[in-house]
Amino acid sequence: MRFYTLLAPAKINLYLEIIGDRPDGFHELVMILQSIDLADIIEISANGLDSIRLYCDHPSVPLDERNLIYKAAQLMCQTFPNAFANYGGVEINLEKNIPISAGLAGGSTDGAAVLVGLNLLWKLGLTRPELAELAAQLGSDVPFCLTGGTAIATGRGEKIDSLHDLVNIWVVLAKYESTEVATPWAYQRYRQMFQDLYVSDTSAIERRTLTVHSGRLVQAISQHDAEKIGLSMHNDLEKVVLPAYPKVEELRNLMTQAGGLGTMMSGSGPTVFTLCQSETEAQRISQKVRESISDPDLGIWISQFNSSGIQVI
Ligand code: C5P
Repeated sequence: MRFYTLLAPAKINLYLEIIGDRPDGFHELVMILQSIDLADIIEISANGLDSIRLYCDHPSVPLDERNLIYKAAQLMCQTFPNAFANYGGVEINLEKNIPISAGLAGGSTDGAAVLVGLNLLWKLGLTRPELAELAAQLGSDVPFCLTGGTAIATGRGEKIDSLHDLVNIWVVLAKYESTEVATPWAYQRYRQMFQDLYVSDTSAIERRTLTVHSGRLVQAISQHDAEKIGLSMHNDLEKVVLPAYPKVEELRNLMTQAGGLGTMMSGSGPTVFTLCQSETEAQRISQKVRESISDPDLGIWISQFNSSGIQVI
């Protein structure tokens, strides 16, 4: 039986700015996204039946339509009915290594992996732009997860411009396993608090987007200046998530004090990360955080910047 194994990396946000409302109800964003080598592993094969079957080693992962893996497989079955009729349904096994509901695009990267996997399994020969179009139908972060690396994401988050690859930068990630932040809540709360500052006309949106393209963080990335990257990070969603989750704010303060190049929350959280120059520094910071917070609910991971998206292994 033919099967494919895919590596699906997580992402962190180095930058997230909310510019305004969009006619589709989403927010107009400018983000800088970075993939890291913390990754899920997905095995996909044809089962010869007419169903999608998903298995996972993590008890909290839903195995039905609530999972982006399932939605991605459904989307492919609907879009390519002949291939579905020819090869039948799929069996997907997920090894979940990325923490869930964490602001690390764990679900989105799994969805992206299924698109790549079925493209190969069904010999569809879809190009990157064709896959990216399907990815955008699944979620705002899914197109980035396909290509990975370092990129500016605009629009809803689905328009991707790749930047200079960043290597040899380490990251310590920390998340209370039982704390989850619902992304729609975070954006809605932001709208309630800051809608007065939203920009709506097209030329003002373009100006704000261009400012980021020529800004301090993009400059730091092109110079591969890790120290300046650490100092230039920004995430608007911290303004609503941190006050609502004091434990996450406390964790962020503690990680800032522990050292490193810069500390921030990723996406809508609640994962907090610190950038580091070396693995030794990352281990020192991780140990310091562990010594200060003895709560067994706190998960800590050490990872490294990664320049690739979904990979077949
Ligand atoms: O696209 P995705 O399904 O990942 O988005 C999850 C939720 O986050 C959306 O339903 C929306 O509430 C919010 N969101 C937003 N603007 C964006 C991206 C996400 O308001 N650009």
